[in-house]
Amino acid sequence: MHQGLESIAASGDLPDLGDKALEPLRRFVEGLSRLLAQAPDESTLLDAGAGLLAQLVARDDWLPDAFATPHPEHYQQFLLHCDPAQRFCVVSFVWGPGQVTPIHDHTVWGLIGMLRGAEHSQPYRLDAQSVPVMSGESVCLSPGDVEALSPRLGDIHRVSNAFADRVSVSIHVYGANIGTVRRSVFTESGERKSFVSGYANAQGPESRDKAPHRTSGT
Ligand SMILES: [Fe+2]
Repeated sequence: MHQGLESIAASGDLPDLGDKALEPLRRFVEGLSRLLAQAPDESTLLDAGAGLLAQLVARDDWLPDAFATPHPEHYQQFLLHCDPAQRFCVVSFVWGPGQVTPIHDHTVWGLIGMLRGAEHSQPYRLDAQSVPVMSGESVCLSPGDVEALSPRLGDIHRVSNAFADRVSVSIHVYGANIGTVRRSVFTESGERKSFVSGYANAQGPESRDKAPHRTSGT
């Protein structure tokens, strides 16, 4: 029915939104496109976008297996759709058991919807010496939950699979072609490193930067 993981990863294909099984994703993309066409302020965008994403992750019967397969050594993200104007992209984020990100930022707005399993998100802020310190309680996302991120609200976190013995999958939406965005990871001691995440399967249209096909950050 769907393409196998190997053929998709090798070809860099994106899911076909014309596929009837992917109708929930197509509806989400169309809804978010209509929302962005209204040029909402960020608060309105995040509120309304979270509602649309909540509808998408309310059911777990549409994501092809090829975009929900973990890597044995590290988490990975698959590009599902990139807006032709790069106003947003939709990514499936796949966690193997126990996998965790470094502390990282995003630089653009984001929405995270939990599709399968669960994940922990620990917010951080930078202190006066630019050392990341925990900021508030860790958030645990369960299937159907949606979390918003923005440089305005707090943009730095560390995310981990809540489970040591099973795969978790979340659907991320960002206000850019996130795989090409230059952003930062932080060590516990405050060292800051620039990175571009790329995607496990593709790069999306008209990239703003050269992105290697590798995975790091969320
Ligand atoms: Fe993240």
